[in-house]
Amino acid sequence: MVKLKKQFAALLAQPLNGELSIQEIETLVEIPRHPSQGDIAFPCFALSKIRKQAPQTIAAKLASDLRSSLFEKIEAQGPYVNGFFNREELSKQALVNILNEGNSYGSATVGNGESITIDLSSPNIAKPFSMGHLRSTVIGNAIGNIAEKCGYQPIRINHIGDWGTQFGKLIAAYKHWGDEQTVISNPIKELLSLYVRFHKEAETQPELENEARRWFKKLEEKDEEATALWKWFREESLKEFSKIYSLLDIEFDTFHGEAFYNDKMEKTVELLVERGLLTESDGAEVVRLDEHDLPPCLIKKSDGATLYATRDLTAALYRQNMYHFTKSLYIVGHEQSLHFQQIFLVLQKLGCPWAKEMVHVPFGFILKDGKKMSTRKGKIVLLEEVIQEAITLAKQNIEARNPELSDKEEVAKQIGVGAVIFHDLKNERLNNIEFSLEDMLKFEGETGLYVQYTHARACSILRKAKNVNGLEKGLNDDYSWQLIKTLMSFPEVIQKSFNRYEPSQIAKYLMDVAQEFNMFYSHVKVLQDDNRLESRVSLIKAVTIVLKEGLRLLGIKAPQQM
Ligand code: ARG
Repeated sequence: MVKLKKQFAALLAQPLNGELSIQEIETLVEIPRHPSQGDIAFPCFALSKIRKQAPQTIAAKLASDLRSSLFEKIEAQGPYVNGFFNREELSKQALVNILNEGNSYGSATVGNGESITIDLSSPNIAKPFSMGHLRSTVIGNAIGNIAEKCGYQPIRINHIGDWGTQFGKLIAAYKHWGDEQTVISNPIKELLSLYVRFHKEAETQPELENEARRWFKKLEEKDEEATALWKWFREESLKEFSKIYSLLDIEFDTFHGEAFYNDKMEKTVELLVERGLLTESDGAEVVRLDEHDLPPCLIKKSDGATLYATRDLTAALYRQNMYHFTKSLYIVGHEQSLHFQQIFLVLQKLGCPWAKEMVHVPFGFILKDGKKMSTRKGKIVLLEEVIQEAITLAKQNIEARNPELSDKEEVAKQIGVGAVIFHDLKNERLNNIEFSLEDMLKFEGETGLYVQYTHARACSILRKAKNVNGLEKGLNDDYSWQLIKTLMSFPEVIQKSFNRYEPSQIAKYLMDVAQEFNMFYSHVKVLQDDNRLESRVSLIKAVTIVLKEGLRLLGIKAPQQM
């Protein structure tokens, strides 16, 4: 569509003779809301100001002057010049192009193979994988796929939260009330309940807090017992998390978490001292950000302990050194935006030119009955159970509809997981989402199931038409044309989705394709034997290509039958 807009602008530029530049014309060109207004339109208000002439008059004159084989007709409607594309020709070109390119349709080379680091998922060990971490995981993974489609090399980094004073609490709790076997049999649940118990008991026994501090200090000093427990909690937690990652079918390039930077932070602190950026404030060491009207960035606590920010600064320096990223994205909830603002500014003050390529990509909360879910009090939905539940519901759904289906288990998994991912990605990321399994698995409506089902339906038509091949003619009926125009805009949608780090653009687009396909299918007799049969079958092939590839970008599978 971008190309066609450019061509229309070039055509208009001839009779306009420099009154407006090509760029100006291009930005004025519109895609009309209603098909009766054509496929593309040029409003004459700007020209009317320049020429001091009625826009209607200008539109009428322009329409009669313009000629191009690209258009079936060009006509004036009031102040607009409306162009109706040559459907026959363009639809044929578009279909040939999509079928030729197959899965690479929509790929671009703008990224030039440059690397983009994506900090995503990053759950905290010994705590449940929260809904927020799920959002980070699926949004980050989709952005990675989209970046790759645009020619970048994504590097997915799982910055595991495996360090901090909470491990002192956990060790203290385990020493008091823990049991090895119980932890092994259900690590996250057990560790969480130890953590919750710690907070409860500490309300009446404040000395527990001191004990926890002592354990954390031991951990920082590499005490053997403390380290062994920490390692064990970490391993058990990672095992649990990997169950979720394998359900979601998501892989990471590294799991370097916060603890990885323990022996690298001293250098960061030295660097800050060298540049004269570190100042003292109430015994703590900070980088002041007064000139940006921001609170100072905390580097070292009064007891010498380093902080979340120190680790993130160190990680950023490490990543630039390691991957030479052209962009560095952090897929983290919007509640951490101050933290990232501070980190990026401190790096700029350190004189890192690449700091301006760092982007916090924030997102909203997942709510249950309008409220945020919290870990502290143990009121939390365990994510693996949620995904399993979605898979179970998907299986029931298959049993009811298509009991004969082969590999039911696998398809149920693809539907259940797809439902969870799509439910998230169809929303603009900054919006809060109300969590509802029931909504996720609705057949009609904005669900992954609907898109997957439409894809499977298209595949089944192709199976019936398996000997139909070739493409002699285009398609010019309204339903086919609308659908083809939408398929033509896939490459632009991918670009836009990448530029805004907004996978929802693709999710919404897939909804449009699915809806338009279903409209087409209910109005056009596809398998009727006439001279456009091959073209209609080609259109359906093109639809399966775009739906499957679009779903893949979101991290969702597209079963052929379901
Ligand atoms: N573990 C953190 C949390 O759960 C998220 C880490 C995000 N990434 C980062 N580089 N700070 O809140």
